[in-house]
Amino acid sequence: MKNNLLENLINNMSIDITKKYKISEEACNSFLLQEINKNKLLLDLLKEDKTLKQILKTKIFKDFNSKTKKAVYHNLRTYHKKEINQDMFNKKYENDKKQQEFIENLINSHISTKERALEKDYYNEIFNLISAPNSILDLGCGINPIMFNRDYPHVNATIVGIDKDKSSIALINKYASWTKNKNVTAFEWKIEDGFNSLEEKTEITVYDFCLVMKVVPVALRHNTDAWKILSEIPAKYILFTASKSSMTKNKSIEHRENKTLLNFLRKTDYEVIHTFNKNQEFGYLVKTKNA
Ligand SMILES: C[S@@+](CC[C@H](N)C(=O)[O-])C[C@H]1O[C@@H](n2cnc3c(N)ncnc32)[C@H](O)[C@@H]1O
Repeated sequence: MKNNLLENLINNMSIDITKKYKISEEACNSFLLQEINKNKLLLDLLKEDKTLKQILKTKIFKDFNSKTKKAVYHNLRTYHKKEINQDMFNKKYENDKKQQEFIENLINSHISTKERALEKDYYNEIFNLISAPNSILDLGCGINPIMFNRDYPHVNATIVGIDKDKSSIALINKYASWTKNKNVTAFEWKIEDGFNSLEEKTEITVYDFCLVMKVVPVALRHNTDAWKILSEIPAKYILFTASKSSMTKNKSIEHRENKTLLNFLRKTDYEVIHTFNKNQEFGYLVKTKNA
């Protein structure tokens, strides 16, 4: 293999990939090296007397390039879940320090909760507008109730997290049991289930406040009828948000997501009372007829 050929190939691919996807150059380079070392056809090609330009034109490289980009995209989407599942179910967190470290890593491993944890007053503008809630529903919660409970103890409300994602629900309940916290509970729930089954479990008829963060666009993409159930959330005030940028790609999706949120809100009886605007997230606080 010619001197620097491998390095140049990695750099060439890395420039392209890091421009498009949310991956650091370091992580990208090490992933590329690992993938190249697994690809015998490409390794053989690199041993031939070819220039980088010639290699980039081969079918072997083109196949590798497109497969690798797909893998980067796929890994960025599933990284969080894989890490968490393995960490949570394979290891024992026998003492408080280890548990706290795990919770810290968990919050930091998730883009949304990390950003919210960094800005200590993230929700304050909302709590200045509504009276202190006794009950909060976090719909499509992910692991947000963990971050919320840890960083907003003064809110002192019962937090019910609901999500179709089993591992997030398991993590929240684990957190609640570790911290002996009876204020936080979570249930596996799909939007399509509606709210009757939830009321049976929690015995809360109307929540003072509901978080629907970064959920509406994704839910509507999968089921265009989901808006009907989302327009009947049993809460007095609801914060609907969406992401400003894509989870995997370096591009703004704010315009598209805003259109989706506003189209959805127009179909409902909710009254927008405040616009929420953060670095990576934006949305609307609405008042419902229950308020
Ligand atoms: C982008 S994540 C946001 C998580 C959390 N709200 C946050 O902002 O940190 C979207 C969440 O919505 C959940 N979700 C999507 N469709 C759903 C559905 N039909 N029913 C329940 N949860 C759903 C996903 O499982 C995921 O946890």
